[in-house]
Formats: sequence, C-alpha cells, structure tokens
Amino acid sequence: METAVRNGVPGIVAECGGACACATCHVYVDEAWMDKVGQPSEMEEGMLDFATDLRPTSRLSCQIKLTAALDGLVLHTPETQG
Ligand code: FES
Repeated sequence: METAVRNGVPGIVAECGGACACATCHVYVDEAWMDKVGQPSEMEEGMLDFATDLRPTSRLSCQIKLTAALDGLVLHTPETQG
C-alpha cells in the first residue's frame, strides 16, 4: 500500500494509513503470485468483508509486506476503486 501511494497508483486510497481498518487499499493478487504473497490474517479477513467485489485473490495491500521474494509482484485494483 505504501509503495502504491508513494507512486500515485490510482485506486489505493488507504484512508486508515495502513491500520487494517478501512479496506480502501483492496487489491487482487495476480494468480501467479498467490503462493508467494501468502494468506491474510484473521484480522485482515474480517476487514475484507467490508470491501466490494471480493474475489478469492482479494487482499488488503497494507497487509502485504514487501520482501525481495515479491520483486515483480503483480496486483490489480478493483474497478470500483478507480
Ligand atoms: S489502508 Fe486501511 S485497510 Fe489498508
């Protein structure tokens, strides 16, 4: 989320600043990256319930910790977010 905001990626509002309390940083993880990104925490899953157009690949981008293993990560923003 922070990387997206710093680089002006449209559709990532991040109202709560990354506190897992708003779901305005909702993204879809590209299928090819699902294993590397991992699963959402219980808290993230609860907040995802407030996002629109949920899919099995939905994540809150503020909860994805970028590491070298995620270099080249492909995420998609929901149409409803911009
Ligand atoms: S920025 Fe609010 S839940 Fe991610």
